[in-house]
Amino acid sequence: MSKGNYYITTPIYYASGEQHIGNAYPTVVADTMARFKRMQGYDVMFLTGTDEHGQKVEEKAAAAGLTPKQFVDNIVSDIVELWKQLDISYDKFIRTTDDYHEKAVQKIFKTLYDKGEIYKGKYEGWYCTPCETFFTETQLVDGKCPDCGREVVWTDEEAYFFRLSKYADKLLELYEKNPGFIEPKSRQNEMVNNFIKPGLTDLCVSRTSFKWGIPVDFDPKHVVYVWIDALSNYITALGYCSDNDDNFKKFWPADLHIVGKEIVRFHTIIWPAILMALDLPQPKKIFGHGWLMSNGRKMSKSLGNVIYPTILCKRYGIDAVRYFLLREFTFGQDGDFTYKSFINRINSDLANDLGNLVSRTVAMNEKYFTGTLISERLSAPIDDEISSLAMSVTKSVTDYMEKLQFSNALTEIWKLVSRANKYIDETAPWVLAKDEANKPRLATVLYNLCETIRIISILISPFMPNTAREIKKQIIIDEVSASYDSSFKWGVLPLACNTARGAQLFPRLELEKELEALSPKEDAPIVQEKKPQETANQKTTTIQGIAQISIDEFKKVELRVAQVIACEKVEKSDKLLKLQLEIAGKNRQVVSGIAKWYSPEALVGKKVIIVYNLMPAKLRGVESEGMILAADVSDDDVKVLFLDETIPTGAKIS
Ligand code: MSP
Repeated sequence: MSKGNYYITTPIYYASGEQHIGNAYPTVVADTMARFKRMQGYDVMFLTGTDEHGQKVEEKAAAAGLTPKQFVDNIVSDIVELWKQLDISYDKFIRTTDDYHEKAVQKIFKTLYDKGEIYKGKYEGWYCTPCETFFTETQLVDGKCPDCGREVVWTDEEAYFFRLSKYADKLLELYEKNPGFIEPKSRQNEMVNNFIKPGLTDLCVSRTSFKWGIPVDFDPKHVVYVWIDALSNYITALGYCSDNDDNFKKFWPADLHIVGKEIVRFHTIIWPAILMALDLPQPKKIFGHGWLMSNGRKMSKSLGNVIYPTILCKRYGIDAVRYFLLREFTFGQDGDFTYKSFINRINSDLANDLGNLVSRTVAMNEKYFTGTLISERLSAPIDDEISSLAMSVTKSVTDYMEKLQFSNALTEIWKLVSRANKYIDETAPWVLAKDEANKPRLATVLYNLCETIRIISILISPFMPNTAREIKKQIIIDEVSASYDSSFKWGVLPLACNTARGAQLFPRLELEKELEALSPKEDAPIVQEKKPQETANQKTTTIQGIAQISIDEFKKVELRVAQVIACEKVEKSDKLLKLQLEIAGKNRQVVSGIAKWYSPEALVGKKVIIVYNLMPAKLRGVESEGMILAADVSDDDVKVLFLDETIPTGAKIS
């Protein structure tokens, strides 16, 4: 019997962007939650999809010589393929170019217009093309887009407006009455202090400057603003404003919208206001997750720090990737993805702890009982310790899952894994096996291990579905004994239980060899030491979603003036240049990923800024001592910061 309905969504992916481990992260998280809820007995609707309209797509398609639809079709098929590779069990995949969605958005727009929630006016403002967002003068940061930091252009056009300004108090009331509505709490404070309290202005919700969007049906020279189009997917996917809205009646309001921190504003201000204007109930929770970084920066192809999930899945298996994403990073906070921590976790948690537990247990059972265990349950006090831990673990995992604390949930499961490994050492089955009289006790020990592994396999199944399946094949576990409810019970496996030796779950890896294999390719990220993670009691404040640092933290960075005295391309790399720098009479070598934008000759003689105290690293095997500063002018353009030639080298920049 169903425990109820559960509706979970991921953001729909831009069909103009690139796919990497960072944007795969929220979908892996949502998938885990969806699987957990299904396992608990909920009727789950897990929605994902693609966000396909907008000026950026129109421009990129034109540049590629394709129609926008051809362009997005190609990207969407890559995204679908990636979800297949990552074992994403979505129930519905929406494309904003789907006919039913487009029609429903037109109806939503018309309804809002008829209700007076949308009106026609004229827009003048600063427009950020990549973010497809207008900003007022005061919202700009140093004259640039406050969200992405890129150039904005002054735009003037006839447009429709949504009366967002009238919802400020209602939004504050919504947050106040529903304390779990926005999580983590810090994101709510950011919304209130940075956006609502300074005053909401009406939102421009149509565009005439480009065509690739959903036309406003009663005024077709306008297309619907992409965020209205995109946010509506959460209800149109359920059939809202269509002939069949059964799923809408069944699943709305959503239980959980998972969104990245940079789009919390759209989901917690614009989306709730639209729902209010449509007289629809609010989602129960909007969770703003942090970013996965690489080399301390958000991943981006132009920075050369992108980590591709496909490469990792092929080499290490989907479950290792899923496990790492969910265990290593605290959901809600930023974290740095490094290959070193990835390989180390595979070795310690998966190969050593879980893999060994299963292989030792199965091997001993094969050896001592030829695969069929007949336990007479000859218990000893030490057994109570492991069985009572096993009995409490499902409850604590469930509690953490409810709080979306995936890493803590896995830590709980691994307490049981470690306890079981310790139990093997304490009970020393190989010693018991020496004496025939100890056989009943030996059988009990192995039975307890199989029971523990049974519970572990149930609890890891939302995180690592393939591994759970493999374990169930090795410790032969039927459907009933593999249910969530049975993970609260001890002694579920039959006394005559079977095992079947299978492949090693996670072979041990050689760190150096793996780092070598992963790092030196074009487009692959540069391997760097892991940054210390933010600790629980460290409060982070943010500005436009970027963590603020104290003056002391900034002072740790030593910036100095350097002059390029020689420069050449790094062999077999299209990206890297090797620069010889002179800094107050001393020489330094720095490798920089700017070959795409600068010829070596263009740099010689130039004065640049170097991060002087950066830990040395090897890039494609070439030593680099420091980093030169450059501006990301756009996704695909980088400009080195050159200094006035009168500034002496070695001068500190503060
Ligand atoms: N199309 C919008 C969402 C519209 S929802 C109505 C969008 N798309 S996106 O493709 O840019 O991002 C999809 C998700 O990936 C977002 O939640 C975003 O925060 C997330 N991420 C993109 N890069 C990321 C990291 N490096 N790390 C973690 N999440 C990242 O936004």
